[in-house]
Amino acid sequence: MSKRVLRTRLCDLLGIEYPILSAGMGPTLIGEPNGAPVELVVAVSEAGGLGVLGGAGFNLEELQSAIREIKSLTDKPFGVDLLLPKNLPDGAGMTGEVPLARILQSLPGPYVEWYEKVRESLGLPESDLTVRSDTVTMHADEAIKICIEERVPLFCAGLGDPGFMVKDAHAVGMKVLGVVGNAKNAGRVAASGVDFVVAQGHEGGGHTGRVGTMALLPQAIDAAAPVPVIAAGGIGDGRGLAASLAMGCIGVWVGTRFLASREGGAMELCKQRILESTDEGTRVSTLYTGKTSRVNTCKFHEIWDGSGLPALPFPVQVVLASALIRGFVQAGKDEYVAGFAGQISGLIKEIKPARDILLEMVEEAADILSRKLKEDVVVQ
Ligand SMILES: Cc1cc2nc3c(=O)[nH]c(=O)nc-3n(C[C@H](O)[C@H](O)[C@H](O)COP(=O)(O)O)c2cc1C
Repeated sequence: MSKRVLRTRLCDLLGIEYPILSAGMGPTLIGEPNGAPVELVVAVSEAGGLGVLGGAGFNLEELQSAIREIKSLTDKPFGVDLLLPKNLPDGAGMTGEVPLARILQSLPGPYVEWYEKVRESLGLPESDLTVRSDTVTMHADEAIKICIEERVPLFCAGLGDPGFMVKDAHAVGMKVLGVVGNAKNAGRVAASGVDFVVAQGHEGGGHTGRVGTMALLPQAIDAAAPVPVIAAGGIGDGRGLAASLAMGCIGVWVGTRFLASREGGAMELCKQRILESTDEGTRVSTLYTGKTSRVNTCKFHEIWDGSGLPALPFPVQVVLASALIRGFVQAGKDEYVAGFAGQISGLIKEIKPARDILLEMVEEAADILSRKLKEDVVVQ
């Protein structure tokens, strides 16, 4: 069978064959594998899409070596995704490598008491995790400098407005995108000079806003114009791709479907959660990071809801949730473990190579757009 052609302006702007980007996915929590590691980036870029490295969990040195590793494995374009949060709290001013157990003891009393109560009742070990002070999220300026020095083809800001670095990125031939969850931010980020806006709907995995993808896309497109929009949130096959293009998007940014691929970086247990999930098998909670994020449902939510505690601010809540998830895994309490994932989880029934996922998506979208719509829809 001859290869399908499915091209949009995005392909010309990025030098890729198909308008499909695998989303930048960091680890769900501290100590977990990176959702979009080097292997996924390379597989997606080699298959004709554009793979985006989830940079959020790295320290500066790891970021640079991952970028260099990608370059050594493919000469195709790729991206790097970083989080650029505003107003990190004081605790972010730490130095060196700090044991999570120590940070936990400095949390407000009710949180320490709840943490110890959970640990005791479920027989969890004391946390052996550490956090390093040189993570890219805490040193965004230096991380961006590395991306510019390495001339990463596409810089992606998963959180925050990357406007301040666009000029420097463009000067070395890089492109820049910003991920948003509502029309207001689509307009704001577009006006800051980025090349593309990714509009991610409420159904998406990880940090998520309040507006569903179907309602968000046309409003984000209008708000961002003339900057083109890439669709995200709930896209898992060629139907989602075709619908996004029909809406006026120039491509798609796909997270959960590529996370549940052979090269996707989630813990096996979390991949399993996605396979077992129905369309209702996720929920939005501040439990994991202090910001609203979508995760597969598990018993961890029940005990958190029972605590009656409000979430701590980002990234302090990450410390609390990470320590407990690690404890659940170590103690074999699998029913308390799940990771970031979107509502499209219910569609995913098999862990496949990323290349197959991408090519099937292309094939299905091309069939819808070239044949099926003409058969099913009467237009005069
Ligand atoms: C495990 C996981 C980790 C994620 N980490 C990040 C991240 O570090 N930076 C980011 O911009 N988005 C992150 N996201 C969100 C994705 O980039 C993407 O917007 C989302 O997955 C799209 O919705 P979908 O899951 O329905 O495809 C993450 C999503 C998942 C599932």
